Amino acid sequence: MSIITIIGAGNMATAIGSRAAEHGHTVEIMSRDTVKAQAAADRIGHGTTVGTFGARPAGDIVFLAVLYAGAVDVVEQYGDALAGKIIVETTNPFNADATGVVTTPGNSVTQQIAAAAPASTQVLKAFNTVFRGVLAAEGPLDVFFAGGDADARARFAAFLTSLGMRPLDAGGLETTHALEWVGILLMGLARNGGGFDVAFGAK
Ligand SMILES: NC(=O)c1ccc[n+]([C@@H]2O[C@H](COP(=O)([O-])OP(=O)(O)OC[C@H]3O[C@@H](n4cnc5c(N)ncnc54)[C@H](OP(=O)(O)O)[C@@H]3O)[C@@H](O)[C@H]2O)c1
Repeated sequence: MSIITIIGAGNMATAIGSRAAEHGHTVEIMSRDTVKAQAAADRIGHGTTVGTFGARPAGDIVFLAVLYAGAVDVVEQYGDALAGKIIVETTNPFNADATGVVTTPGNSVTQQIAAAAPASTQVLKAFNTVFRGVLAAEGPLDVFFAGGDADARARFAAFLTSLGMRPLDAGGLETTHALEWVGILLMGLARNGGGFDVAFGAK
């Protein structure tokens, strides 16, 4: 089991942290608002700790569970504190009515974060195609992810497996923009009869 760090203290931070903690990982929460960070840590339980926003995370895998508009700024604020880490960013850069994304091919949020992060940092995208309730609920789950190098994706795949999830490696950073559109597909399905507990899988 490992230590993971989550930057953000909202719905996704709580969902990821809860699932990880229930599977024996130690969770650290970092948020610009320490009161919200402590509240998220209390919701997750299992000895979850609160770290200092901007300081070096305790975990080797660091989830970035903030809104897309602030994601690059957060990584810039951390700067060298993220050197050598695997960042797993969860953002969906939706337009105002969630019918499209505001990013362009070759310039996904993940790619923007990778450009801003230290050179030794691997940046992946995952969980943007999973609703938080589905993530937090126990049970098997297919998880598509992309970004970083093959070693970082293998390490993240092992983490997903430890949570009872099936890792589905979609490739490097160049695939992350496609994952952002998969988020739109998920929203479309949810709003047109699929409901918000729908989830994708691969066969
Ligand atoms: N909810 C879902 O089912 C779901 C599913 C897939 C992907 N996602 C994606 O996951 C990310 C998090 O979603 P969420 O539902 O957890 O949102 P949320 O509940 O609104 O929480 C967002 C968190 O991000 C922090 N934050 C926002 N802007 C920030 C900034 N500029 N600097 C530092 N912290 C900042 C917020 O801090 P404050 O409270 O201080 O503002 C809060 O802790 C989003 O990008 C979303 O698109 C969500």
